[in-house]
Amino acid sequence: MNKRITVEKRRQYIVHGGHRLDGEVCVSGAKNAATKQLVATLLADSPVILHNVPDIGDVQVTLEMLRDLGAQATFNQGTVTVDARGLKTSKVAEAVHRKNRIPILLFGPLLHRFGEATIPALGGCKIGARPVGFHVDALRQMGAEIESEGGSYIARTKGLKGAVIELPFPSVGATENIMLAAVKAKGTTVIKNAAMEPEILDLAVLLQAMGAIINMDVNRTWVIEGVESLHSAEHRIIPDRMVAASFLIAGALTRGNVFVRDARQTDLLSFLNVLRRVGVPFQILRDGIRVLGEDIKEPLNPIALETDVHPGFMTDWQQPFVMLLTQAEGVSIVHETVYEDRFGYTEVLVKMGAKIQLHRECLGSKPCRFVDHDYRHSAVIVGPTPLKGADIEIPDLRAGFSYLIAALIAKSTTRLSGVEQIERGYEDIIGKLKALGAEIEVV
Ligand code: EPU
Repeated sequence: MNKRITVEKRRQYIVHGGHRLDGEVCVSGAKNAATKQLVATLLADSPVILHNVPDIGDVQVTLEMLRDLGAQATFNQGTVTVDARGLKTSKVAEAVHRKNRIPILLFGPLLHRFGEATIPALGGCKIGARPVGFHVDALRQMGAEIESEGGSYIARTKGLKGAVIELPFPSVGATENIMLAAVKAKGTTVIKNAAMEPEILDLAVLLQAMGAIINMDVNRTWVIEGVESLHSAEHRIIPDRMVAASFLIAGALTRGNVFVRDARQTDLLSFLNVLRRVGVPFQILRDGIRVLGEDIKEPLNPIALETDVHPGFMTDWQQPFVMLLTQAEGVSIVHETVYEDRFGYTEVLVKMGAKIQLHRECLGSKPCRFVDHDYRHSAVIVGPTPLKGADIEIPDLRAGFSYLIAALIAKSTTRLSGVEQIERGYEDIIGKLKALGAEIEVV
């Protein structure tokens, strides 16, 4: 008997390069704020409303996870309402196993509610080992007992209590995890050497609106006084500074004139300085930022650049920015100091015609914590180089966008597979690029 095998057809983007982008595009809400705030809603004893939530893959996965735990969650044109009163289990669904990194943040809300939490193995972009030791150590300091088995975690507590925690590195996820546990812990929690990214500040703003007492202190410190309960609140999520930067780069590369509505200068300060040094003209306007790629008359300048934690040049800007540097005249250097393995994607750019060499040395102004390791975490880029189309499998979200903009300026057609990686973080990306004049088919 013939077995019928159904293979789900994988969608692809076919990009015909060489079209200039012009017009207006609106930045959606920040992925890395929205997903964390969805978790925070589980701490409230009445419904929480979030506005400007992007319609992206990672938000859908997070909403599914909340519903599976027993929360009622509705999503209507960017507004999400979560009512967590009916939470029924402390076990996060296996269905989110290795889908993204959000489940690890559920320790606090679930331990407060049930005294226990089971978290499946994490996924997310493959850009380094991405351990979670800082999270686990901090929660243990706060009174949780945590066991790990095959990448999943089981935690129990008789009650979380405040602690003074010094992070070995200002980890975004660990800072958020501690914050989500500390707001309802007994006593005061101090997080030293903490991350201070705008998305974390936005989480703190929501938690404060829900009744938490959170103070941003000097020298990378958060001080959180635990409260008995948290209540309903309504909050608008900040625009996505990664998406904003991505469209500004796309406009510059295609020599277009693109108004990026809702791009916020305050969140893009270090990015805009580098963009200016490279020679890309832009205007800061009341409701956004306009990139004037059409006014680039001289060759773009090469630069030396180092990624860093906020307020430094964000690691998530690195991939699209390297793409921009392939079109600058001369030798640029990029030193990645946040992730040890975030240059793997350059291999494909080289196949498309870029000249990029990776190095194990710290090619920056100061050695980073990877100095004594064997990681290829510095890149030397020589430009400008014309690019040609290719058949590409997308390995992760930011690399995916970088390939997409490479395809937009390539001389021939590019076929991109694994496009759900891009759709994890960019809302209606093809609709938005097509509205700006890109020629892309989805097959
Ligand atoms: N680290 C450890 N141990 C830990 C935690 C982190 O060694 O317990 C290391 C990591 O291996 C990495 C560094 O610390 O080398 C920074 O990791 P961090 O914890 O700050 O990253 P994350 O919370 O896992 C978030 C974003 C990333 C973004 C980074 C840095 C989310 C869901 N992800 O990741 O975003 O690159 O912060 O800003 O918020 C993306 O959106 O494409 C993305 C990868």
